[in-house]
Amino acid sequence: MFEVRRKSDVPLTEQIVREISERIQTGMLASQTQLPSVRALADRLGVSLVTVVQAYRLLEQRGFVERIQGKGTYVRTRTPPHEPIQSAVPQQRFDWQLLLADYLPRAAVFRQHTESVDETPLKLSMAALCPSLSASSLPVNLYTSIVETPAMLTEYGPVEGLPSLRARLALEFREAGLSVDVEEIFITNGAQQAIDIVARTFLGPGDVVVVEAPTYAGALDVFRACGANVVSIPLDNQGLRTDLLLKQCDIKAPKLIYSMPAFQNPTGVVMSQQRRRALLDIATSYQCLILEDDSFSDCSFGVPVPPPLRAGDDGGHVVYVRGFSKVFLPGCRLAAVVASGSVRNRLVAAKSVSDLGSPLITQRLVEHCLVDSQRHRRIETIANALRIKRDLALQTLAHHAPAGVTWNCPEGGYSIWVTLPDHVNTDVLLVEAMRKGISFLPGSACYNGDLVYHHLRISFSYLEDDELVRAIRELCALMREAVMGQSRPFMPVI
Ligand SMILES: Cc1ncc(COP(=O)(O)O)c(C=O)c1O
Repeated sequence: MFEVRRKSDVPLTEQIVREISERIQTGMLASQTQLPSVRALADRLGVSLVTVVQAYRLLEQRGFVERIQGKGTYVRTRTPPHEPIQSAVPQQRFDWQLLLADYLPRAAVFRQHTESVDETPLKLSMAALCPSLSASSLPVNLYTSIVETPAMLTEYGPVEGLPSLRARLALEFREAGLSVDVEEIFITNGAQQAIDIVARTFLGPGDVVVVEAPTYAGALDVFRACGANVVSIPLDNQGLRTDLLLKQCDIKAPKLIYSMPAFQNPTGVVMSQQRRRALLDIATSYQCLILEDDSFSDCSFGVPVPPPLRAGDDGGHVVYVRGFSKVFLPGCRLAAVVASGSVRNRLVAAKSVSDLGSPLITQRLVEHCLVDSQRHRRIETIANALRIKRDLALQTLAHHAPAGVTWNCPEGGYSIWVTLPDHVNTDVLLVEAMRKGISFLPGSACYNGDLVYHHLRISFSYLEDDELVRAIRELCALMREAVMGQSRPFMPVI
């Protein structure tokens, strides 16, 4: 049997495909040999079931094996080269692109949410952090405002963004205690682009970037793709452990610290004032940048959220990113970035290189929503609906989750962070869940490196109330089986 190399640039799935196809091509594996079951091979290699399922799928696509319903996966009978395959099924073409290694480890997780295992349609998504907004949550005059401004379609706008939107944002930020100059604001296509731009501008091979552990999975891929050295610092219920960050600084100071002080994704933690001060002190002392991702502060269930880190930053250390996707307009894909000095200038240059500016029409839409007199009432309504969903999710967990499973009670945001006993692998659990049409985010996606498997994130934002209860009940039944199941030794092959 072979082993996989976790530190290789070749994705695990592709390594498995190569090893097995080589054995078939050289005759080591004779035709009609049955391959190990997905579970057995996953156990043997210490990889997730999804990895093996995908590898077997690729082997099938490339014509090496066939799956026989209810029996297993078998090496295909070799067809003589001169004889075309006589089959009603069109022959699969060799897809060379699958051999290209990528640098997006999260992409595999993403595919799990968009494709489903064994063609079971995904009906109950608890993976997406997206509110189920109805048209009634939008101002009615949105459409006319666009029609009345055709220049939005006929011109390029400034790279920094629509001046009127930026002026409006400056006003809003000031009201919220964040003293900002209009010049310091620029607009990006979502918080995701802001993270990407900051990383591309300031991170290169060998630079240290500190992330919270666990963290937002979408940021991890961006940092890794720059070749940066991603260092994880744990958080607790006060936020990032600044005492541990200090120790890291003594070894090698980070160039960038990525933090989500308000309703951290995935844990929902709000960073305490004391930690905020300590973090700013560290950034000042060690001359690092802080990337403050504020995607969820609108979505509080009643607790006051301290002002952003940026409000206490007088040295230009904080790049503040305010996403508009969460309780606002997910489809508009916009965010505002606040940065000062040459950092701001370099980021705007990077935005220009990236796409020459965000679409004016969506900027106008967001501006309209910001000036809408009913906005605060609308946001309150959305936050209330989310609080009700959170409560439903917590009650359902309390009734149905097996002993040994714990979770947090977030005071805002969209998700609950669930912790299972150490022996449970939530990558494996996800495959089982997807067979039942349910999805969630396995905790491993939120850690840099593949060593933490016993958490999962449930998003309560997307499903209707009754669907949410049904999905969590079914998930609890699966968790019960997993908790009671045999301890599955994890065998990382490093
Ligand atoms: C913490 C965090 N930052 C950024 C993003 C990306 O947000 P946007 O839709 O604004 O690009 C997400 C999306 O879920 C997120 O959770």
